[in-house]
Amino acid sequence: MLLSTERHKEYERDGYVVVADAFFPHELNLIRQRIGELSKVDDESRVLERDGRTIRALHGCDQRDALLARLVCHPSLLEPAQQVIGGEVYTYQFKVNTKAAFRGDVWPWHQDYAFWKNEDGMPEPRAVSAMLFLDDVTEFNGPLYFMTGSHREGCIPQSHLDGGDHDRWRSDVSADLTYQLSEQQMLDLTSRYELAAPKGAAGSVVFFAPNLVHGSPSNISASSRRVLIVTYNALDNIPKPSEHPRPEFLVARPSGALAVIPREVCFAVLP
Ligand code: SIN
Ligand code: MN
Repeated sequence: MLLSTERHKEYERDGYVVVADAFFPHELNLIRQRIGELSKVDDESRVLERDGRTIRALHGCDQRDALLARLVCHPSLLEPAQQVIGGEVYTYQFKVNTKAAFRGDVWPWHQDYAFWKNEDGMPEPRAVSAMLFLDDVTEFNGPLYFMTGSHREGCIPQSHLDGGDHDRWRSDVSADLTYQLSEQQMLDLTSRYELAAPKGAAGSVVFFAPNLVHGSPSNISASSRRVLIVTYNALDNIPKPSEHPRPEFLVARPSGALAVIPREVCFAVLP
């Protein structure tokens, strides 16, 4: 399911592109079922909101569930990812941000590549995030905000909030993000780029670039806003081995090149 030439150009120009109806309802039900099971497992890869009880995110889900492992090879995710990167890719991150009804907290303004470059040593921003809506995303339940075209700024120097201990990866995924853009930087960007908040039905997929400036508000609505995000990295853009790697559920060590598998095989219930 490659992007048309027009959609591909849109991605290059805006730093993101939305593909509606990329997944069937029965596929979404199977994914939600697996996510529901994983959310019951109390371990470090399950990150909570500041209240200490609401689930904020589940990380590395593909490393713990066979169906979710196959999902990264689904044609609706992998083919556009290979297309925009222009070559072979592997899975860098796999997470579900749950943004619970009434309690889901903010994601401050940031660029993803600031984390991948500074924390992991990713050489170039030759990656892409594919965000699948598991719920309908509306103006009310905390949609992502993008600064359209801001990926062209490159990686903007940004303030670094130091967690300071061996568990500092936690602030990379919290509402007090390690790398954030300042109000002054956002004022400047606002004078040059327009805001967008892609919305859509469950089953839509948004592809967005590593340096696209984005964030999201809290969810005070009665509807959850679950999104599943697979980040693909170019196979020739692997970070150098680090002395202090972030946990594997947050940054996967390179596997081989991913190959597309037919969607019905992705969702086959194997013995
Ligand atoms: C969100 O889920 O609203 C933010 C996702 C991200 O910044 O990666
Ligand atoms: Mn992000």
